[in-house]
Amino acid sequence: MAIEYSTLCLSDPAQASTLASIEALRTQLSADERDELNKRKRSEAIAEYLATRWIARKLAEKIVPDTASSDWHIVKAADGLPSLKSRHGGCLYLSISHKYPWVAVAASDSQPVGIDIDKVPEFTSPAQERSWLQAIATAGFASQELDSKHDHTAFDLISRWTQKEAIAKATSQVGLAGLRSIDTRLIESVEPHERKQFVWRNGNHNISLWCGQLDPKHFMTLAWEATNCNDTPSS
Ligand SMILES: CC(C)(COP(=O)(O)OP(=O)(O)OC[C@H]1O[C@@H](n2cnc3c(N)ncnc32)[C@H](O)[C@@H]1OP(=O)(O)O)[C@@H](O)C(=O)NCCC(=O)NCCS
Repeated sequence: MAIEYSTLCLSDPAQASTLASIEALRTQLSADERDELNKRKRSEAIAEYLATRWIARKLAEKIVPDTASSDWHIVKAADGLPSLKSRHGGCLYLSISHKYPWVAVAASDSQPVGIDIDKVPEFTSPAQERSWLQAIATAGFASQELDSKHDHTAFDLISRWTQKEAIAKATSQVGLAGLRSIDTRLIESVEPHERKQFVWRNGNHNISLWCGQLDPKHFMTLAWEATNCNDTPSS
């Protein structure tokens, strides 16, 4: 049983050789992946697409050691849920997130995973920040979730939003209605940890969460359905 994840900053000059390998993936994409790539017009979206597919293949190779990254490709269910398929018939759970310049991918052979990156916006005035906070609080959170006694910061809301999105991806509840129904008040801290570990339990779901900051503006959460108390993701 394995959960693997990886993040990459596409604007990091130290990643030049990795970016060259990623560019070479273009010729190895499946027909469906090529069709999906061709729908992306912005150079940043193209770079995100290729990087996430390249990382997904590398994670698959790590999880199933007798396979090569070139054995794997990504398929999408009708609702957009991605998974990894090998030409030998293998299948892995997969989750993808991109917020340029960051990309993140998680994969598992044993349980659903969800990964999400988001960014605290640049505000030009306190009024703009207040209006953004109001909009995301209203659209993304149920009214009882947010404590009106506290003045939520953009950072606080974005970090909670990535938790929601990661849980949504791991539990197949994506879309605004599904996201709003995920009650972040049920998130409990497990123990102080460098990347901050939490659990979210609701109904049949027992989700573990790792939360971390990628840089001063970008926040990431990895969620996985906890089937075994010893499950520990590695990167
Ligand atoms: C569709 C959704 C997964 C998009 O998430 P996002 O945070 O906008 O974008 P991310 O980069 O984190 O995730 C995109 C990836 O999600 C994956 N995804 C799409 N549908 C999915 C599903 N049903 N289940 C799991 N993953 C899914 C895809 O792999 C996609 O990457 P790809 O296009 O390169 O394949 C979903 O969470 C959603 O509906 N978000 C709504 C966001 C919204 O309305 N925000 C308003 C602000 S309040």
